[in-house]
Amino acid sequence: MDGKRKPLISANWKMNHNHFEAIQAVQKLSYLLSAADHEAVDVSVHPPFTDLRSVQTVLQSDEIPVLLGAQDCHWEASGAFTGEVSPAMLAKLDVSHVIVGHSERRQLFGEVDQVVNVKVKAVIAEGMTPIMCCGESLEEREAGTTDSRVASQVRAGLAGLTPEQISSMVIAYEPIWAIGTGKVATPEDAQSVCATIRRVVREDSGTAAADAVRIQYGGSVKPVSAPDLMRQPDIDGALVGGASLDPEEFARIIAYRLVG
Ligand code: 13P
Repeated sequence: MDGKRKPLISANWKMNHNHFEAIQAVQKLSYLLSAADHEAVDVSVHPPFTDLRSVQTVLQSDEIPVLLGAQDCHWEASGAFTGEVSPAMLAKLDVSHVIVGHSERRQLFGEVDQVVNVKVKAVIAEGMTPIMCCGESLEEREAGTTDSRVASQVRAGLAGLTPEQISSMVIAYEPIWAIGTGKVATPEDAQSVCATIRRVVREDSGTAAADAVRIQYGGSVKPVSAPDLMRQPDIDGALVGGASLDPEEFARIIAYRLVG
Protein backbone atom coordinates (compact mmCIF):
# COMPACT_ATOMS: atom_id res chain seq x y z
CA MET A 1 0.00 0.00 0.00
CA ASP A 2 3.17 2.19 0.02
CA GLY A 3 1.86 4.31 2.88
CA LYS A 4 -1.18 5.45 0.94
CA ARG A 5 -4.76 5.28 2.10
CA LYS A 6 -6.62 2.04 1.34
CA PRO A 7 -8.16 2.52 -2.11
CA LEU A 8 -11.90 2.56 -2.63
CA ILE A 9 -13.13 1.49 -6.06
CA SER A 10 -16.81 2.18 -6.61
CA ALA A 11 -19.30 1.09 -9.23
CA ASN A 12 -21.77 3.82 -10.13
CA TRP A 13 -24.35 1.94 -12.14
CA LYS A 14 -26.37 5.12 -12.77
CA MET A 15 -29.83 4.27 -14.23
CA ASN A 16 -28.85 0.75 -15.31
CA HIS A 17 -29.61 -2.80 -14.12
CA ASN A 18 -33.03 -3.76 -12.76
CA HIS A 19 -32.99 -5.71 -9.52
CA PHE A 20 -32.64 -9.11 -11.23
CA GLU A 21 -29.68 -7.88 -13.27
CA ALA A 22 -28.22 -6.26 -10.17
CA ILE A 23 -28.29 -9.52 -8.23
CA GLN A 24 -26.58 -11.32 -11.10
CA ALA A 25 -23.95 -8.61 -11.38
CA VAL A 26 -22.95 -8.67 -7.69
CA GLN A 27 -22.90 -12.46 -7.63
CA LYS A 28 -20.68 -12.55 -10.72
CA LEU A 29 -18.45 -9.87 -9.25
CA SER A 30 -18.08 -11.78 -6.00
CA TYR A 31 -16.84 -14.88 -7.89
CA LEU A 32 -14.27 -12.77 -9.70
CA LEU A 33 -12.83 -11.08 -6.60
CA SER A 34 -10.26 -12.81 -4.42
CA ALA A 35 -9.55 -12.42 -0.72
CA ALA A 36 -6.38 -10.58 -1.78
CA ASP A 37 -8.49 -8.10 -3.78
CA HIS A 38 -10.63 -7.38 -0.73
CA GLU A 39 -7.58 -7.00 1.45
CA ALA A 40 -6.00 -4.51 -0.94
CA VAL A 41 -9.05 -2.54 -2.03
CA ASP A 42 -12.44 -1.52 -0.62
CA VAL A 43 -15.17 -2.06 -3.21
CA SER A 44 -18.60 -0.47 -3.29
CA VAL A 45 -21.52 -0.91 -5.67
CA HIS A 46 -24.11 1.83 -6.17
CA PRO A 47 -27.24 0.41 -7.80
CA PRO A 48 -30.46 2.32 -8.48
CA PHE A 49 -32.74 2.71 -5.43
CA THR A 50 -35.10 -0.02 -6.62
CA ASP A 51 -32.28 -2.58 -6.45
CA LEU A 52 -30.91 -1.75 -3.02
CA ARG A 53 -32.97 -4.19 -0.97
CA SER A 54 -32.23 -7.09 -3.32
CA VAL A 55 -28.52 -6.35 -3.45
CA GLN A 56 -28.37 -5.92 0.33
CA THR A 57 -29.93 -9.36 0.78
CA VAL A 58 -27.44 -11.04 -1.56
CA LEU A 59 -24.43 -9.33 0.01
CA GLN A 60 -25.57 -10.41 3.45
CA SER A 61 -26.72 -13.94 2.74
CA ASP A 62 -23.65 -14.79 0.64
CA GLU A 63 -21.33 -12.87 2.98
CA ILE A 64 -19.86 -10.87 0.12
CA PRO A 65 -17.48 -8.20 1.46
CA VAL A 66 -18.63 -5.54 -0.99
CA LEU A 67 -19.98 -2.27 0.40
CA LEU A 68 -23.47 -1.17 -0.55
CA GLY A 69 -23.81 2.35 -1.91
CA ALA A 70 -26.48 4.71 -3.18
CA GLN A 71 -26.26 7.30 -5.95
CA ASP A 72 -28.02 10.20 -4.24
CA CYS A 73 -30.48 11.03 -1.47
CA HIS A 74 -32.57 13.84 -0.05
CA TRP A 75 -31.30 15.76 2.98
CA GLU A 76 -34.38 15.44 5.20
CA ALA A 77 -35.19 12.34 7.26
CA SER A 78 -38.83 12.22 6.08
CA GLY A 79 -41.60 14.44 4.83
CA ALA A 80 -43.59 15.66 1.84
CA PHE A 81 -40.91 15.29 -0.84
CA THR A 82 -42.55 13.26 -3.59
CA GLY A 83 -40.16 10.90 -5.31
CA GLU A 84 -37.29 11.37 -2.88
CA VAL A 85 -35.42 8.89 -0.66
CA SER A 86 -34.03 9.88 2.73
CA PRO A 87 -30.60 9.13 4.23
CA ALA A 88 -32.35 7.35 7.12
CA MET A 89 -34.03 4.97 4.66
CA LEU A 90 -30.68 4.19 3.06
CA ALA A 91 -28.97 3.63 6.41
CA LYS A 92 -31.69 1.14 7.30
CA LEU A 93 -30.70 -0.88 4.22
CA ASP A 94 -27.07 -1.02 5.39
CA VAL A 95 -25.98 1.45 2.76
CA SER A 96 -22.53 2.66 3.77
CA HIS A 97 -21.59 5.10 0.99
CA VAL A 98 -23.73 7.68 -0.79
CA ILE A 99 -22.64 9.56 -3.91
CA VAL A 100 -23.49 13.24 -3.50
CA GLY A 101 -23.28 16.03 -6.07
CA HIS A 102 -22.52 13.90 -9.11
CA SER A 103 -22.13 16.15 -12.16
CA GLU A 104 -25.20 14.52 -13.72
CA ARG A 105 -27.21 15.65 -10.67
CA ARG A 106 -25.68 19.11 -10.91
CA GLN A 107 -26.13 19.51 -14.68
CA LEU A 108 -29.39 17.66 -15.33
CA PHE A 109 -31.22 18.24 -12.04
CA GLY A 110 -29.99 21.68 -11.02
CA GLU A 111 -28.17 20.61 -7.88
CA VAL A 112 -26.11 23.51 -6.55
CA ASP A 113 -23.19 23.55 -4.11
CA GLN A 114 -25.38 24.47 -1.15
CA VAL A 115 -27.63 21.46 -1.75
CA VAL A 116 -24.56 19.25 -2.04
CA ASN A 117 -23.39 20.58 1.32
CA VAL A 118 -26.65 19.82 3.15
CA LYS A 119 -26.78 16.36 1.59
CA VAL A 120 -23.20 15.63 2.69
CA LYS A 121 -24.14 16.63 6.24
CA ALA A 122 -27.32 14.55 6.18
CA VAL A 123 -25.45 11.46 4.99
CA ILE A 124 -22.85 11.85 7.76
CA ALA A 125 -25.60 12.40 10.35
CA GLU A 126 -26.96 8.94 9.48
CA GLY A 127 -23.55 7.34 9.98
CA MET A 128 -22.83 6.85 6.28
CA THR A 129 -19.94 8.09 4.16
CA PRO A 130 -20.50 10.65 1.42
CA ILE A 131 -18.65 10.36 -1.86
CA MET A 132 -18.76 14.02 -2.79
CA CYS A 133 -18.19 14.69 -6.47
CA CYS A 134 -16.55 17.68 -8.07
CA GLY A 135 -15.12 18.42 -11.50
CA GLU A 136 -14.77 21.00 -14.23
CA SER A 137 -16.47 21.30 -17.61
CA LEU A 138 -14.54 21.29 -20.88
CA GLU A 139 -15.01 25.06 -21.16
CA GLU A 140 -13.57 25.57 -17.69
CA ARG A 141 -10.58 23.35 -18.48
CA GLU A 142 -9.92 25.19 -21.72
CA ALA A 143 -10.23 28.54 -19.93
CA GLY A 144 -7.61 27.41 -17.39
CA THR A 145 -10.02 27.62 -14.44
CA THR A 146 -10.02 23.93 -13.48
CA ASP A 147 -8.27 24.34 -10.14
CA SER A 148 -10.32 27.32 -8.99
CA ARG A 149 -13.58 25.66 -10.05
CA VAL A 150 -12.79 22.42 -8.24
CA ALA A 151 -11.46 24.24 -5.16
CA SER A 152 -14.66 26.26 -4.87
CA GLN A 153 -16.84 23.14 -5.23
CA VAL A 154 -14.81 21.37 -2.54
CA ARG A 155 -14.91 24.37 -0.16
CA ALA A 156 -18.67 24.80 -0.60
CA GLY A 157 -19.40 21.10 -0.28
CA LEU A 158 -17.36 20.71 2.90
CA ALA A 159 -18.51 23.95 4.57
CA GLY A 160 -19.24 23.52 8.26
CA LEU A 161 -17.79 20.02 8.56
CA THR A 162 -15.24 19.16 11.25
CA PRO A 163 -11.78 17.87 10.29
CA GLU A 164 -12.77 14.50 11.81
CA GLN A 165 -15.84 14.29 9.57
CA ILE A 166 -13.79 15.18 6.51
CA SER A 167 -11.15 12.58 7.42
CA SER A 168 -13.56 9.72 6.89
CA MET A 169 -15.08 11.12 3.71
CA VAL A 170 -14.45 10.38 0.06
CA ILE A 171 -14.11 13.10 -2.57
CA ALA A 172 -14.43 12.07 -6.21
CA TYR A 173 -12.76 14.18 -8.87
CA GLU A 174 -14.71 13.64 -12.06
CA PRO A 175 -13.92 15.98 -14.96
CA ILE A 176 -17.23 16.35 -16.78
CA TRP A 177 -15.60 16.06 -20.21
CA ALA A 178 -14.24 12.62 -19.27
CA ILE A 179 -17.54 11.11 -18.11
CA GLY A 180 -18.98 8.59 -20.53
CA THR A 181 -16.88 9.98 -23.37
CA GLY A 182 -14.01 7.49 -23.45
CA LYS A 183 -11.68 10.49 -22.91
CA VAL A 184 -9.88 9.64 -19.70
CA ALA A 185 -7.80 12.37 -18.05
CA THR A 186 -4.08 11.73 -18.23
CA PRO A 187 -2.71 10.35 -14.96
CA GLU A 188 -0.69 13.57 -14.60
CA ASP A 189 -3.72 15.85 -15.07
CA ALA A 190 -5.85 13.74 -12.71
CA GLN A 191 -3.05 13.71 -10.11
CA SER A 192 -2.61 17.46 -10.38
CA VAL A 193 -6.27 18.20 -9.63
CA CYS A 194 -6.45 15.58 -6.87
CA ALA A 195 -3.38 17.24 -5.29
CA THR A 196 -5.22 20.56 -5.46
CA ILE A 197 -8.19 19.00 -3.68
CA ARG A 198 -5.92 17.66 -0.93
CA ARG A 199 -4.20 21.05 -0.62
CA VAL A 200 -7.58 22.77 -0.20
CA VAL A 201 -8.53 20.32 2.54
CA ARG A 202 -5.15 20.87 4.22
CA GLU A 203 -5.50 24.67 4.12
CA ASP A 204 -9.06 24.66 5.46
CA SER A 205 -9.15 21.64 7.78
CA GLY A 206 -5.58 20.69 8.61
CA THR A 207 -3.03 18.05 7.75
CA ALA A 208 -4.70 15.14 9.52
CA ALA A 209 -7.91 15.54 7.47
CA ALA A 210 -5.93 16.05 4.25
CA ASP A 211 -3.84 12.94 4.87
CA ALA A 212 -6.87 10.80 5.67
CA VAL A 213 -9.50 11.88 3.13
CA ARG A 214 -9.77 9.49 0.21
CA ILE A 215 -9.84 11.03 -3.26
CA GLN A 216 -11.16 9.03 -6.19
CA TYR A 217 -10.76 9.75 -9.88
CA GLY A 218 -13.75 9.15 -12.14
CA GLY A 219 -14.30 9.55 -15.87
CA SER A 220 -13.92 6.74 -18.42
CA VAL A 221 -11.84 4.55 -16.10
CA LYS A 222 -11.14 1.23 -17.82
CA PRO A 223 -8.94 -1.78 -16.98
CA VAL A 224 -6.24 -0.38 -19.26
CA SER A 225 -6.18 3.10 -17.68
CA ALA A 226 -6.68 2.14 -14.03
CA PRO A 227 -3.10 1.07 -13.14
CA ASP A 228 -1.45 4.38 -14.12
CA LEU A 229 -4.21 6.42 -12.47
CA MET A 230 -4.04 4.39 -9.26
CA ARG A 231 -0.25 4.81 -9.10
CA GLN A 232 -0.63 8.56 -8.56
CA PRO A 233 0.14 9.67 -5.01
CA ASP A 234 -3.09 11.61 -4.47
CA ILE A 235 -5.47 9.19 -6.20
CA ASP A 236 -6.97 6.73 -3.71
CA GLY A 237 -9.52 4.99 -5.84
CA ALA A 238 -11.86 5.20 -8.77
CA LEU A 239 -15.53 5.98 -9.34
CA VAL A 240 -16.43 3.89 -12.35
CA GLY A 241 -19.51 4.25 -14.54
CA GLY A 242 -19.77 2.37 -17.83
CA ALA A 243 -17.01 -0.16 -17.15
CA SER A 244 -18.58 -1.14 -13.83
CA LEU A 245 -21.70 -2.55 -15.51
CA ASP A 246 -19.71 -5.55 -16.71
CA PRO A 247 -18.47 -7.50 -13.66
CA GLU A 248 -15.46 -8.84 -15.56
CA GLU A 249 -14.32 -5.39 -16.61
CA PHE A 250 -14.94 -4.00 -13.13
CA ALA A 251 -13.03 -6.87 -11.50
CA ARG A 252 -10.08 -6.17 -13.80
CA ILE A 253 -10.10 -2.55 -12.66
CA ILE A 254 -10.09 -3.70 -9.01
CA ALA A 255 -7.12 -5.96 -9.83
CA TYR A 256 -5.17 -2.95 -11.21
CA ARG A 257 -2.25 -3.64 -8.88
CA LEU A 258 -1.49 -6.97 -10.62
CA VAL A 259 -0.76 -5.20 -13.92
CA GLY A 260 2.75 -4.10 -14.87
P1 13P B 1 -17.88 6.63 -16.88
O1 13P B 1 -16.91 5.70 -16.20
O2 13P B 1 -18.95 5.93 -17.67
O3 13P B 1 -17.16 7.70 -17.67
O4 13P B 1 -18.67 7.41 -15.71
C1 13P B 1 -17.95 8.02 -14.71
C2 13P B 1 -18.88 8.46 -13.66
O5 13P B 1 -19.64 9.40 -13.85
C3 13P B 1 -18.88 7.73 -12.39
O6 13P B 1 -19.63 8.39 -11.44
